[in-house]
Amino acid sequence: MTLPDPEIPPIQNIAELVALYDIYGPRRYGEGVSQLDHSLQCAALAVSQGLNDALVAAALLHDVGHLLWMQATGETSPPEFDTVHEDRGANSLSTLFGPEVSEPIRLHVQAKRVLCAIDPQYEEALSSGSVHSINQQGGVASAEEHRAFEALDFSEDAIALRRIDDAGKVESLQVEGFTHYLPLLHSLARS
Ligand SMILES: [Fe+2]
Ligand SMILES: [Fe+2]
Repeated sequence: MTLPDPEIPPIQNIAELVALYDIYGPRRYGEGVSQLDHSLQCAALAVSQGLNDALVAAALLHDVGHLLWMQATGETSPPEFDTVHEDRGANSLSTLFGPEVSEPIRLHVQAKRVLCAIDPQYEEALSSGSVHSINQQGGVASAEEHRAFEALDFSEDAIALRRIDDAGKVESLQVEGFTHYLPLLHSLARS
């Protein structure tokens, strides 16, 4: 079931992001980790893979749509299947950051559908949560959807982000905190 999406204004500055992750980051992501754990692990993986700053920011913020939904609705956890969190997150960030940050975020769910179509090992390695959700997200991409995806700007970045997304769910892993990324976020922000 698709829930009606709440009206969400764009995030205007880094302080708003910090507050959002302070309040809603400790909430449950699933698979034994919090929203913040998942975000920080994804950012750490992007750094360890030598990805550029925009992709580190995208990795850190890729599921901000879940946090925005909790903020807007007052719910204590995101819905089990939120099929528009990627658009919600990308739209809310596209005032503060350029498309090199927002667009891989927008495409991170489509990227999973494409990876399942082109990489059998990827599909086999998906977590139970991701296998469960892909069926709600349109299933494995068709050849036509794959071609259309590849033609989009930032599709390769979205694939890199997606591979990180699937790995950033390790219980009790110690990584850098949110404040570690503030200089990087400020360097990319328009305000
Ligand atoms: Fe996501
Ligand atoms: Fe994620």
